[in-house]
Amino acid sequence: LILLMLCTILGVPFAMTVHIQFMAVELHSISAPAAMESAPGLGRMKCAELCSVRPACFGFSWLQGLCRLFDWLAFSSTDGWQVWESCDVYTRMPHNRLKLESCSKSSTSWFGVCERAIDKNRNQDYRAGSCAHTRKNLFEWLEGQLAAPSLVSYVTIYNRQDCCAERLNKFSLQVDGVECNRVNLTVPFSVANFSCNAFGSRVR
Ligand SMILES: *[C@@H]1O[C@H](CO)[C@@H](O)[C@H](O)[C@H]1NC(C)=O
Ligand SMILES: *[C@@H]1O[C@H](CO)[C@@H](O)[C@H](O)[C@H]1NC(C)=O
Repeated sequence: LILLMLCTILGVPFAMTVHIQFMAVELHSISAPAAMESAPGLGRMKCAELCSVRPACFGFSWLQGLCRLFDWLAFSSTDGWQVWESCDVYTRMPHNRLKLESCSKSSTSWFGVCERAIDKNRNQDYRAGSCAHTRKNLFEWLEGQLAAPSLVSYVTIYNRQDCCAERLNKFSLQVDGVECNRVNLTVPFSVANFSCNAFGSRVR
């Protein structure tokens, strides 16, 4: 299979300038996600900068001089939002494609080293030399490493098509060792997005 990340938030930690863009999701909101950190006295831009250098920060809420940072989990369910004074809620801009920097996997056969899965070549014919291959067992895995902890909203997988696509019908998608999707298909797929919505840097 070829594993390729196509996800939302690209974390760019320790950058000298802010490359991460934020967008307003709620203006004058009377509730806001629970804060993981507060910074009084910051303007909106400084608040965005602070969030952008905190790898876990998914967004911030701001009301006149009070900057409150929150993580993805606090944001993901509005049930958990706290009643708050009229504030503006911002999140990182979605739809940045994440890049897998390196990879490893449980075993290799047919010369299918894991690097083939992250080489950006989406050819789905195994003979073209761009798909990875493990041994044929239960509980084999392939893991890719992101440059920085990021929100992985979904993972796009390009499955082998010259044969054997049904071998990838059942798998657990994990970020930093925590399952974000359990896939159990009856019909083999070719290219598919699997939702995940987890924060971390190791995607398996
Ligand atoms: C997959 O789903 C089928 C029903 O569609 C079920 O019988 C089977 O136990 C499931 N397998 C796993 C690994 O969850
Ligand atoms: C995966 O999601 C992206 C963004 O929504 C979309 O452009 C793409 O067509 C989707 N791919 C598949 C195979 O559904």
